[in-house]
Amino acid sequence: MTKQRTFLVTGGLGFIGSNFVRYKLKNSNDKIVILDALTYAGNLDNLKEFINDNTVMLPTSQKRLDLIDESVNWREGKIEKSILNKDTRIENLKFKTADYKINTFNTEELNSQIKSLMSDEKLLVVIGSIEDSSVVEQIMSEVDFVVNYAAETHVDRSILNPDAFIKTDIYGTYVLLEALKKSDNVSKFLHISTDEVYGAAPFGVSYKETDTIDPQNPYSASKAGADRMVNAYNNTYQLPVMIARPSNNFGPHQYPEKLIPLMIMKALRDEQLPIYGDGKQIRDWLFVEDTAFAVDKIIEKGTAGEVYNISGRNERENIDIVTMLLDGLNKPSSLIKYIKDRPGHDRRYSINDSKLQELLKDEDTSAHWQPLEELIKITIDWYINNKPWWDKILHSDKEYQDFINKWYNR
Ligand code: DAU
Repeated sequence: MTKQRTFLVTGGLGFIGSNFVRYKLKNSNDKIVILDALTYAGNLDNLKEFINDNTVMLPTSQKRLDLIDESVNWREGKIEKSILNKDTRIENLKFKTADYKINTFNTEELNSQIKSLMSDEKLLVVIGSIEDSSVVEQIMSEVDFVVNYAAETHVDRSILNPDAFIKTDIYGTYVLLEALKKSDNVSKFLHISTDEVYGAAPFGVSYKETDTIDPQNPYSASKAGADRMVNAYNNTYQLPVMIARPSNNFGPHQYPEKLIPLMIMKALRDEQLPIYGDGKQIRDWLFVEDTAFAVDKIIEKGTAGEVYNISGRNERENIDIVTMLLDGLNKPSSLIKYIKDRPGHDRRYSINDSKLQELLKDEDTSAHWQPLEELIKITIDWYINNKPWWDKILHSDKEYQDFINKWYNR
């Protein structure tokens, strides 16, 4: 095994971030520090197999502790998983907590905690926000690499309320970049952007990294702001930053507001599947474990100042994806219900990732970019076998219920 290095993974409890953390913990000797705000999309259950008696969690404020407390019960320095019902019970899942005075948070104390914990633990979970410069600066003074997954990501939510997107995606990224400017030890910083920054692609066009960006909704405009700020910090301060622009991720642990998990969950419950407009919009579907692989290789082999597209190489109309899901679940197409379109809905996304393929040319990629049908099957099976994971979101996540009611009844 190679030398042990430390990675800060922001948003490491979210869907794509937690899949990356899983990939690193399984395939490397590197240490991971997660910084996650535990907003609605962050979920301790996403890394359940790694969060155990040896995992230290460090809430950076009373508010963050309350967020942990919302999903777990806090008892005498230990936390036991809260129980939804008998079927969903996870036995003996306990978290060790740092001996940390949560009510009198002060930054020096946090600094020494982080330092000493990072020398002992392979996985440290810091519950805090990327907008919190004191927390970010202290973690960043201790790590070798940074991958920024933390973001508000759902387009529909950004249409209802862009505020959080501007704060997290743009301002949060700026805070990270400022901390990077002050850190002497971070050798590479990879920002996770999106293929949505290019805007809709006309038929026959697949955007390259050098093409002009032209975002069309509040989410993609926020991501584009962050993406260009990262570029500006390379250009202005010569910071060792890179940008990845992945297409539509799917796979296990995706929050059920996105197309694929939403449709699987609804079909399993024999509910109607809401398709926007004519359902002929095209997305390029990328399996989340292939993203983790590509991101890891970009960090290892990519060049500072460069942008790398990550394509799933699977462009499909939404209706084809939904039909594939219904077939896989053995459910009738009569469940499909066409509803009014998303405002400003981009018709098609398409990117060219030959630059990434060039970077991967000496790598064994045989386990990756498998046929879409197989990856969809893996995803369907995961949701069938992990009903407690999504049932908990469906029944006890008020945030989820509020958003779904507001959006689909608008
Ligand atoms: O392209 C990468 C982007 O993919 C990421 O940057 C975003 O964070 C991610 O949310 C995703 O954006 P989309 O808007 O493409 O994903 P979403 O799953 O929301 O929708 C996929 C397509 O399915 C889109 O054309 C809208 C449509 N759709 C979605 C939902 C939730 C429906 O027809 N009905 C639905 O209920």
